Amino acid sequence: MFREQISSADFHHMPREYQELLTRVLMIQADCEIGGPHVYGSRWLLDAPTADDMHCLSRIIGDEIDHFRKINALLREISKDGTPLLHRKNSERFLDAFKVEELPTWAEVAVFCFLVDRVGRHQLEEFVDSTYIPLNEAIPGIIQEEFFHVSYGEQKMKELCGDSKSRKEAQQAVRRWYPLALDMFGRSGSRRSERYLEWGLKRRTNVEARQAFIDEVNPLIVELGLDVPDEMEGRAYL
Ligand SMILES: [Fe+2]
Ligand SMILES: [Fe+2]
Repeated sequence: MFREQISSADFHHMPREYQELLTRVLMIQADCEIGGPHVYGSRWLLDAPTADDMHCLSRIIGDEIDHFRKINALLREISKDGTPLLHRKNSERFLDAFKVEELPTWAEVAVFCFLVDRVGRHQLEEFVDSTYIPLNEAIPGIIQEEFFHVSYGEQKMKELCGDSKSRKEAQQAVRRWYPLALDMFGRSGSRRSERYLEWGLKRRTNVEARQAFIDEVNPLIVELGLDVPDEMEGRAYL
């Protein structure tokens, strides 16, 4: 397994496979960072139930835009540019979770933070101690902010589950988003996922990362008094 530490100056001297995998993963990460606000931003920013919620949502949107900037700065260092991703249609996003056009209920916003931002945090943790130095330097601050997004989602879920009408909406939203969240980890048995490991650009296979997410989130869903959807329902990743 490759374990050298690569700087942006070394990048162009690396084998083509390393260059392609790093570029791909940074493009996908940039797309996901800006993809979230495109799903819920315009519908909910000024329609969140309270001023506190509007404020939190505006912070989350601001953070995601900043995460995009940070990942795009890494792309620019290697002569790529993710700027066109800023205004891409939702239907053209890399991952199905970000192809969704709108979140019809406030419970869906809570579930989005609770599930999708949590997947985001897990994905970013893949890059900790990677072989690419600029990525290692950018990641800790971004992960820190993802913890805030996830804990906001958790707090909102607790509130929603305290009331029988909104609990139903929360359950419905979990049913919709759980399979999309599991799909975000990519296909099981993906050859590319093994090459990322080989080059030290990720720490776990898609299967291992997805399982770690399931082990973390299922008990939390149960604790909220909600049913965990059948893991096989998503199935796109199999
Ligand atoms: Fe983010
Ligand atoms: Fe986030």
